[in-house]
Amino acid sequence: MKTIGLLRSAALLYGALALVPLTVQATGLPTLDGNAPIVIAHRGASGYLPEHTLGAYELAVRMGADYIEPDLQLTRDGHLVAMHDDTLERTTNVADLFAQRNGGYAVSQFTLAEIKTLTVKPVGTASMSYPGFTPGSAEPFRVPTFQEVIDIAKAQSIATGRTIGIYPEAKQADPVMEDKILQTLAANGYGSSTDAVFIQSFSEATVRSLDQKQQAEGMDLPLVLLGAAVTIDVGGQTTPMMGVSGPSGNGVLSLAEVATFADGVGVVIGYEAFGYAITQDFIDAAHAAGLQVHGWTFNKADWTSANAEYQKYLAMGMDGVFSNYPDLADSARDQFVSSVPEPASVVLMGLGLAGFAAIARRNGRMRLSR
Ligand code: G3P
Ligand code: CA
Repeated sequence: MKTIGLLRSAALLYGALALVPLTVQATGLPTLDGNAPIVIAHRGASGYLPEHTLGAYELAVRMGADYIEPDLQLTRDGHLVAMHDDTLERTTNVADLFAQRNGGYAVSQFTLAEIKTLTVKPVGTASMSYPGFTPGSAEPFRVPTFQEVIDIAKAQSIATGRTIGIYPEAKQADPVMEDKILQTLAANGYGSSTDAVFIQSFSEATVRSLDQKQQAEGMDLPLVLLGAAVTIDVGGQTTPMMGVSGPSGNGVLSLAEVATFADGVGVVIGYEAFGYAITQDFIDAAHAAGLQVHGWTFNKADWTSANAEYQKYLAMGMDGVFSNYPDLADSARDQFVSSVPEPASVVLMGLGLAGFAAIARRNGRMRLSR
C-alpha cells in the first residue's frame, strides 16, 4: 500500500511539474536584461565632493558606482571638459581669477589651459573632503578633460577589479561635440554595444545623429535619450510615451520610435506634479520596445527616504539610477537584488505550492469518493 501511495504521490508531483511556469527570467530580476540595475554616479559622488572632478569620480567608484557620468562642454580651443553648466562661475573660482568675457564666463570663451588653472568649488551638500578618503589624483579638484575621465575609469577598473563604465552626456546639440565624443571614445578602444559606455543627450536630434554617425563608423555604443515619462491619450487609450526636446521644440515620441535610434531612455524622477510620472506601464512598455530605463536624479541624502525611493523604482524594473550619493544607491541596489528570489527558489517554491495543491486535490477526491 505504501509503495502505491508513493507512486501516486510521485505521479501527482510529476503532473504538478507540468503546471510550473518555465518562463521565469534568468535571474528573477525585473530589469530588461535580467541583470542587476546599474548605479550611475551623477557628476561623480557629487553629494559629497565637488561635482565633475577626479576626486568625486574616484570616491563614487570606491562607493560602488558602476558608471561615472561626465556632462561635457567644449572649450574655446576645442577640448571636451567635464562640466554641467555652459558657464564656469557656479562651480569654479573663475570670477576670482579672470575678468568676464563678452559679458560672462562661458566655457566656450576660455582655453583648456585657462580652465586648468581653476579650482572646482563644492555646491549643495558637497565639501572639499570626505572622511577617510584620500584622492589618488595629485589635483583632484581641477576641471577634468573627457580623456582624464576615461583614464580614471580605466585606472579604477584595474584598482577595483570591476569594469567601471562611463556615461558621457553631450550637453550641446552640436555636431562638433558629437564628433569629438565619438573620436575620443574610439581612440580609447570603445565602440561595441557590449562596452561599458552609454552616450546620452536631451536632444533627440543629437541622439539620432550619433546613431547615424556610429553606423557610418562601424561603432555601436548604446545611446540614451533623456527626457520625461509621459502618458498620452491616444485614440481614447492611455499610452506611455517619451517626452522629449525635439528639433521643433518639446514633443512626445512613442517608445517604439525611440527604439529605432536609441537603446535606452533617461527619465526624470519626482516630477509627478508636472505630469511626468514613471509608472509600471511606462517601464513595461519601454522594456517591450527593447529600451532600458534609467532614472535621474536620485538626490535624497537620508538613507530611509532614499532607500524607499530606490526600492519603488527598482521594483518596477528600472535598469539604472543616476545618484548623487552612490553609496546609498549601491546599498539600496544590493538590498533590492537580495530581496528578489533566485529562479531556483522560485521554481522550488512553485513546485512546493503545486505539490500542495495536487495533494489537496487528491485528498479532496478521496473524501468525495468515501
Ligand atoms: O544626464 C542625466 C541627468 O544628469 C540629467 O540632468 O542636468 O544633471 O545633466 P543634468
Ligand atoms: Ca547629466
